[in-house]
Amino acid sequence: MYETLLVDIEEGICTITINRPDKLNALNKTVMGELDKAIDGVYNNEAIKSAIITGSGNKAFVAGADISEFQGLTKEQGMALAKRGHDIFLKIERAPKPIVAAVNGFALGGGCELALACHFMIAADSAKFGQPEVNLGLIPGYGGTQRLVQVAGKGRAMELLMSGRMITAQEAQGYGMVNEVVPPRDLLPKVKELLQTIQSKAPIALANIIDCINHFDHTQKGYDREIQKFGECFATEDMQEGATAFLEKRKPSFKGK
Ligand code: COA
Repeated sequence: MYETLLVDIEEGICTITINRPDKLNALNKTVMGELDKAIDGVYNNEAIKSAIITGSGNKAFVAGADISEFQGLTKEQGMALAKRGHDIFLKIERAPKPIVAAVNGFALGGGCELALACHFMIAADSAKFGQPEVNLGLIPGYGGTQRLVQVAGKGRAMELLMSGRMITAQEAQGYGMVNEVVPPRDLLPKVKELLQTIQSKAPIALANIIDCINHFDHTQKGYDREIQKFGECFATEDMQEGATAFLEKRKPSFKGK
């Protein structure tokens, strides 16, 4: 079905594997187009409750945007390339179902940005992170200047982007980018185990959590969003079921309504 992705749906979890191992899973136009379609599937396919994005092979998650597609681009074409990446990564960030990055190797440039666009990351202890665009006379173009600062803070984002240096999975965890670091063989089982727990919760509540956290800001707007979404949960059957099940001392059965 796809030329550059492997997509597998099992027990409600859609695993999207970027599959160009000979090019360290670099994001070329085909990968981006197919990723866009696969994420549409996460939104629209009712059999999918959550998703994992990972890379094929044991060397790379994604080693960045495909540099061979950069040569000869004009300023306008460069902006169009960034806009396309932004649209797809925003679609990932705003997905109403959990999307987790399972970072299995190099997550550089657009690869680090892709992982940052996911709702959270789990990494293999062999993973390496970095934004080396500055070595090419460039800056991150798929949201990295904005998302990295949110998780790692201004000083660390400035230093990583200006030096272009790579950091280990453990350092990335210390920077707040990665939730947990595990041996490579445990990576997918760990993420799947976490998603099975998350998937057992009320789907509309999950979508509202993602929405509210995405609306975080330093003004009243984020709090207002939470007030609205909290109220909306009361209009769902699942919230009534959750509260009733608690009071009846039984497990809730959520239906996504
Ligand atoms: N775009 C296009 N091709 C890429 C790529 C990228 N971002 N990253 C790796 N590749 C290709 C290499 O060109 C090479 O292809 P070839 O075998 O046809 O020559 C293949 O993937 C393997 O990479 P190689 O560089 O030989 O592996 P390595 O183990 O020596 O080095 C890296 C690994 C990740 C350090 C190195 O590939 C690298 O620096 N990649 C670019 C990272 C980057 O700058 N990303 C940001 C882009 S904006």
